[in-house]
Amino acid sequence: MRTMTERDIPEILEIEKRSFVSPWTRGMFTQTLESPVAYNFVTVGRQKILGYVIFYQAGLEMHIMNIAVHPDHRRQGIGSDMMQRILETSRINSVEECFLEVRETNFPAQGLYEKLGFRNIGRRKGYYSETSEDAIVMVLSLA
Ligand SMILES: CC(C)(COP(=O)(O)OP(=O)(O)OC[C@H]1O[C@@H](n2cnc3c(N)ncnc32)[C@H](O)[C@@H]1OP(=O)(O)O)[C@@H](O)C(=O)NCCC(=O)NCCS
Repeated sequence: MRTMTERDIPEILEIEKRSFVSPWTRGMFTQTLESPVAYNFVTVGRQKILGYVIFYQAGLEMHIMNIAVHPDHRRQGIGSDMMQRILETSRINSVEECFLEVRETNFPAQGLYEKLGFRNIGRRKGYYSETSEDAIVMVLSLA
C-alpha cells in the first residue's frame, strides 16, 4: 500500500465507475489529495491499481470516505488488508473511533466491516438521494 497521487486518478476513476451507482468525480479525488485531514492510499499489483481507501481524521475520530477494490480482484483479502492497515496505524496514532456509512443493500461491504468488528449504531434515512436508500452508520472502537 502506498500514498495515492494525482497520476493514479484516471485508473481509480475506472474502478470507481465500476463500483458505485454515484461514482466520485475527478474533482472529488483531487480535493481529498489536497485536504490536510484526508489520507489517501492505493494497493498496487503488477503496476496496476487493485484498490484504494480514503479516510479523514479529525481529533480522536476517523471517518472512512471511500474504499473500493477492482472488480477482477475482489474476495482476495485486499479490502480487509487495506482496512486493517489504516486502522492499525490510526490506533498507534491514538485515534479512538472509526466511523463509516454504508448503503443498506451493500452486503459485501457490510460483511467486510462486520468481520473487522464494526457495529451498527444507526441509520440515516434516505442518505443516498439518487436511490433514496438509507445509510447504515457503523463504528469501531480502537481505544
Ligand atoms: C466492499 C469491497 C471493498 C470488499 O473488498 P474485497 O477485497 O473484495 O474484500 P475481502 O476479500 O477483504 O473480503 C473481506 C470480507 O468481506 C465480506 N465480503 C466481501 N465480499 C463479499 C461478497 N461479495 N458477499 C458477501 N460478503 C463479502 C466477507 O465477509 C469477506 O470475508 P471472506 O472472504 O473471508 O468471507 C469490494 O467488494 C468493493 O470494492 N465493492 C464496491 C465498492 C464498495 O461497495 N465500497 C464500500 C462502500 S461503503
